Amino acid sequence: MSAVAASLRLEDLAVDPYPHLAELRSEGAAVWAPNLDMWVVTGYDDAVSVLRDPERFTNDSPKSLIQATFGRQMLSVEGEEQRRYKQACLAPFTGKASREVWQPRVDRLCVELLEAAERAAACGAVEVDLMADYAAPIALETMGIVVGLPFGDLPRVRAWCEVFARSLANFEGDAELHRTGQEAAAAMREYLAEKLDEQRSAGGAEGGTLIEVLSDTGGTLARSEALANLLIVLFGGIETTESMIGNALHYLLSEPGLLAATLDSRNEGETAFLAAVEDVMEESLRYDPAVQTLTRHATAPVRIGGAEIAAGETVQCMVGGANRDPAVFEDPERFKPGRANVRKHLAFGLGNHFCLGAQLARAETRSALRMLLERWPRVEFDRLASLPPYGHEFRKPGRLVARSGPQRKKELAVG
Ligand code: HEM
Repeated sequence: MSAVAASLRLEDLAVDPYPHLAELRSEGAAVWAPNLDMWVVTGYDDAVSVLRDPERFTNDSPKSLIQATFGRQMLSVEGEEQRRYKQACLAPFTGKASREVWQPRVDRLCVELLEAAERAAACGAVEVDLMADYAAPIALETMGIVVGLPFGDLPRVRAWCEVFARSLANFEGDAELHRTGQEAAAAMREYLAEKLDEQRSAGGAEGGTLIEVLSDTGGTLARSEALANLLIVLFGGIETTESMIGNALHYLLSEPGLLAATLDSRNEGETAFLAAVEDVMEESLRYDPAVQTLTRHATAPVRIGGAEIAAGETVQCMVGGANRDPAVFEDPERFKPGRANVRKHLAFGLGNHFCLGAQLARAETRSALRMLLERWPRVEFDRLASLPPYGHEFRKPGRLVARSGPQRKKELAVG
C-alpha cells in the first residue's frame, strides 16, 4: 500500500491538499486510502475516464452521502431519470438566462453590498470581510432570487446549508453529523414544500424562477421529485458559489502584481478588462477549486491502472489533483491567468453530472470581481487579518479582509 495514502488525513487535505495529491498521483492511477475507506484518483485522464463512464462508476449508491441526505435527485441517480430531473430544472440556469436575466440583478446586488460596506466605513467600521459581507450574501441572495424565495427566509436557508456542508464532508462516518444533516434536510424539505404548494395554488407563473418552473402544472416532475431536486439545487448553489467567489477574490488580491495588472487592463478598454477578470476567475477555478471531490461507486469489479476495484467500493476523483496534473496543465503549481487550456479544468465536474449552475456561478463571480474593482480600485488585502482557502471537500477562505484602517476608511467610503 502507498505510504502517502496510508497516512492521508483529512486535516492535511484541508490545509494544503496539493503536495499530497501530487504524491498520490505519482504512486498510481487509483490509490487506496484506508482512513477514508475509498480509492483516490488524482490524475486528469484517469478522473476523466471515471467521470465519462457512469455504467461502471455510478452516483446511484446507498453509500452516497448526498443520496442519504437529500434522497433521489439528479446528483444521485443516473440515466433517463437523471436527464429528466435535470431538464426540468434547466430553464433558469442556461447561459442565456444567467447572462441576460440574472447577471444585471447580481451586478446591482454587488453594488448594494459595497455601498453598505461604505456606509459602515463612514460610521467608523475598520475592516470589511469580503467573505461575510460580500461573497456570502451574493451567493445566498442570488439563489434566493433565482429559486424565488422571500429575502427574509434566507438566513434560515443558509443555516440549513451549513449543516449539510458539514454532513457531506463527513467521510469518516460520524453518526451525529449524519443525524443533524438528515434533520436539516427534513426541515428544509418541509419549508420548500410550502413554497412549492403556494406557487402551485397560485397557478404557476410562466418561466422565471425555479419554483415557478417546477410548479408549472405541465411540469414533468411529481411533487416529491420536484422537492428533492429543489433541495439539491438550492444547496448546490450557495456554499459552492460563496467559495468560488471567495477563492477568486483571494487570488486576485493576494497574487503578486495581479490586482494591478487586472486594473491596468481597463486602460485598454472594457473588453480587455472583462477578459482579464474572466482569466482570473477561470484560473482560480483550476488552481484552487471550491469543490474538491467527485464521488463515484463501482458497479462491478473494475481496474483503474494497476488497481483492482471491487464492486460497491467508492472512487473519489480529486478535482485539485486533476487540475494540477502536469500532463495537461503546464507549470501547474503557478497561478497563471490566461492559460490557453484553462477551461479544461474539472471544477464543475464533467459528463452527465456537469454542474447545473456553472453559468450562473460564473455570472456571479464575474459581477463580484468586476464591481469590486470598478467601485474600489484602491482596495487592499490585509493578509495578516485574512485566512487562506481551507477545506477538504468545500474549500474557501475563512476570512478575506480588505484593509480599511483609519487611513483607508475615507478611501473606502468614497470608493
Ligand atoms: C448557481 C450555483 C450552482 C448551482 C445551482 C449548482 C447546482 C448543481 C447541481 C444541481 C448539480 C448536479 C448536476 C447533475 O447531477 O446533473 C451540480 C453539480 C456540480 N457542481 Fe454545481 N452548482 C452551483 C455552483 C457550483 C460551483 C460554484 C461549483 C464549484 C466551483 C460547483 C461544482 C459542481 C460540481 C463539481 C458538480 C459535479 C458533481 C459530480 O459530478 O459529482 N457548482 N451543481
